[in-house]
Amino acid sequence: MQKVRLGYVGAGFVAQAVHLPNFTTLPDCEVVALAEIRPQLAQRVAERFGIPRVYRTHHELLLDPDIDAVAVSAHFVHQAQVAEDALRAGKPVFMEKPMALTVARAERLLQAEREGGGRLMVAYMKRYDAGIELAKNLIDGYRQSGELGRLFYLRARCFTGNWTGGNSGTVIQTDEPYPPVTEEAPDWLPERYRQSYVGYLQVFCHNVNLARWLLGAGADWQVISVDLDEDGFTGVAVLRLGGVRVTLETGALSAHQWDEDTQAYFQRGWVKATSPSLLLRNACAEVEEYRAGEGAEYRRLFPQDGWSWSFQREAQHFIQCVRTGEPFRSSGEDAAEDVRLIEAIYQRWLRKSPESATAV
Ligand SMILES: NC(=O)c1ccc[n+]([C@@H]2O[C@H](COP(=O)([O-])OP(=O)(O)OC[C@H]3O[C@@H](n4cnc5c(N)ncnc54)[C@H](O)[C@@H]3O)[C@@H](O)[C@H]2O)c1
Repeated sequence: MQKVRLGYVGAGFVAQAVHLPNFTTLPDCEVVALAEIRPQLAQRVAERFGIPRVYRTHHELLLDPDIDAVAVSAHFVHQAQVAEDALRAGKPVFMEKPMALTVARAERLLQAEREGGGRLMVAYMKRYDAGIELAKNLIDGYRQSGELGRLFYLRARCFTGNWTGGNSGTVIQTDEPYPPVTEEAPDWLPERYRQSYVGYLQVFCHNVNLARWLLGAGADWQVISVDLDEDGFTGVAVLRLGGVRVTLETGALSAHQWDEDTQAYFQRGWVKATSPSLLLRNACAEVEEYRAGEGAEYRRLFPQDGWSWSFQREAQHFIQCVRTGEPFRSSGEDAAEDVRLIEAIYQRWLRKSPESATAV
């Protein structure tokens, strides 16, 4: 395969601010088609990014024989359907997170992958952040050597804040009507928690995905206890991921920047990664480490590929895996665990809430 010929679906905010600037400039990728239900938006975005073919829907795009792979970013329900159809058409698929709003829908995507012959990568860009990679190498190294003692705790904290990092000013918008969205939620979830559940899932799936990866936990997770405010967003979940105790501290802070860090504690030191504002270009997580004992030291480390953008490295990873057949670092099968875990956190919380105990 010379260049990967990519078909992109959805010309909205994330496509314009993040993925099209990356996919259209990677040397081994050519964005050959754009599908967008809103025709004026489709035309204007295709012109801006030099994309030669424009389709109205992803169904038309999937019939194009010159497309090697598909990428999609859209409303959660729309993008899950697009990904499912593309997997059934046998394409490698890059989709924004979360892969689904329910476990049932996530499993449908995995089934489509198995039956259609496509393969799915879910775009969890934090796994491709150069600072996070460095933090993972440090954690893995200390776990292997035992130098800092046992890894006994991981703290994943995300209080949100400004997520665009100033990267939203040039997005094209039209006044065309937005395509209708069918509501989707787990069938056990009381109606009044639907909105907060979607908010919790769509923000904090990043943090459980990252924590599972840093600990090499895969599908080995348990929800121990959950204490959330009535907003269904602010609070603490205590988990065990790969046998390690993890707290997921969540909330919304009116911060001028993104307020998130992930810290792994050993008996004699720690490794901490502070994540940048989500869409901030060319800035990776800041990494610090502390080593106790004789000659105790505190260090701030900068990765070799430090001035880089996680979203660009993520796009490069997808294209490389399509070309070589290598497995995705954030596969659909792995990402389904995040949907399972978030559903389990919410189930646990609602079971404990006396007010909702009868509703669940
Ligand atoms: N990784 C991150 O940190 C991050 C940050 C923000 C948003 N996101 C994710 O991005 C997604 C939202 O993307 P957005 O804000 O660009 O959405 P958007 O609503 O701005 O754009 C989606 C576009 O897709 C089009 N569309 C929908 N279904 C279609 C179909 N079948 N065929 C063709 N076009 C179709 C719509 O008309 C719309 O223009 C969400 O999944 C969200 O979780 C990720």
